[in-house]
Amino acid sequence: MNTMRLQSTAEAFARFRSMAELVELVELAENKAWPLVVLGGGSNVLLSPRLEGLVIQSSNDSVTPLGLRNGRQLVKVGAGKNWHEWVCESIAYGHGLENLSLIPGSVGASPIQNIGAYGVEVGEYIESVIGYQVSTGQIRHLDRPDCRFGYRDSVFKRELKNDFVVTSVIFALKTEFIPELSYGPLASLKTDYPDTAGNCITPDKLIAKVCEIRSSKLPDPGKIPNCGSFFKNPVVSRVLYKSISGQFPAVPNYPVASAGSVKLAAAWLIDQSGWKGKRLGKVGMHDQQALVMTADDGATLDDVLALRDAVRRSVFERFGVELEPEPVLVDGSAG
Ligand code: EPU
Repeated sequence: MNTMRLQSTAEAFARFRSMAELVELVELAENKAWPLVVLGGGSNVLLSPRLEGLVIQSSNDSVTPLGLRNGRQLVKVGAGKNWHEWVCESIAYGHGLENLSLIPGSVGASPIQNIGAYGVEVGEYIESVIGYQVSTGQIRHLDRPDCRFGYRDSVFKRELKNDFVVTSVIFALKTEFIPELSYGPLASLKTDYPDTAGNCITPDKLIAKVCEIRSSKLPDPGKIPNCGSFFKNPVVSRVLYKSISGQFPAVPNYPVASAGSVKLAAAWLIDQSGWKGKRLGKVGMHDQQALVMTADDGATLDDVLALRDAVRRSVFERFGVELEPEPVLVDGSAG
């Protein structure tokens, strides 16, 4: 149940479909003094070998159109719906999610780290997130501003960490298909279309192209255990950026909202530190995309953490940049 395929055994496990079932499980955990762990698609977690307490997972994969509001098509989707399946189905209702094709995981997990790829972040298409706040026993609807989406960040990773169980997400899709093609490999579509027969790019073709790009660079978690990007792209001060670019003029960099900062590519930093395609025990950094850690059968959490630390150390020693891991360490003891 985790794409890194780490061996992990929970004290107790249950799936819930309705809010009533969820509330019953939360009460059970409270009565037993069990910590509660919420698992989505298991694609962004590092599980410890033994999870104390109750692990729960949504099995609600319903898709319910809610009609038009403020020019966007609203669709409510259950937290247990597979993310990629939802992206493929979403184009029957509206647009915007196409660039997020093939991201492993579930709909319920998508707002937690505000998943993003190829110039799109899911937060731009979320109207609200519905769930249960454990500490207050309240069912809550958080509108987009309340979710405080940032780069791989949201209120669910901050104030509501370990306190909120997402049960469904209401998406606000664009009614018109205006493809976001600014990201390098997608930009070729601007010249490929309209094609010689005069056909324009369609949502299906954009989804197919994104799947093709992802498959060419990122290992398929169904075949090679991994949990996507292992580190976030770091935001550094302009001063540090200047000193790095003085030495390495080709350093990839992206603008960020705050004037004194620059975002760097963690993949490039790891690659330049010599870790691309390099292994340490039963884990390694992928030979096509240095940002992805892959695991062999039998790899343990300790193997993963050892490589995490070794990569962080190398990048820090070479560039003075601290990398922050993207996947969440789940040990069941923090609740
Ligand atoms: N690069 C290297 N060596 C490598 C790989 C990449 O030098 O081994 C360089 C590339 O040449 C490029 C830069 O690093 O200049 C960035 O690489 P890429 O465009 O592949 O994207 P990324 O920044 O590494 C991010 C997301 C991915 C997302 C892609 C596409 C993060 C942490 N990762 O990767 O998201 O698919 O952009 O939008 O933001 C994920 O979060 O799990 C994930 C896969």
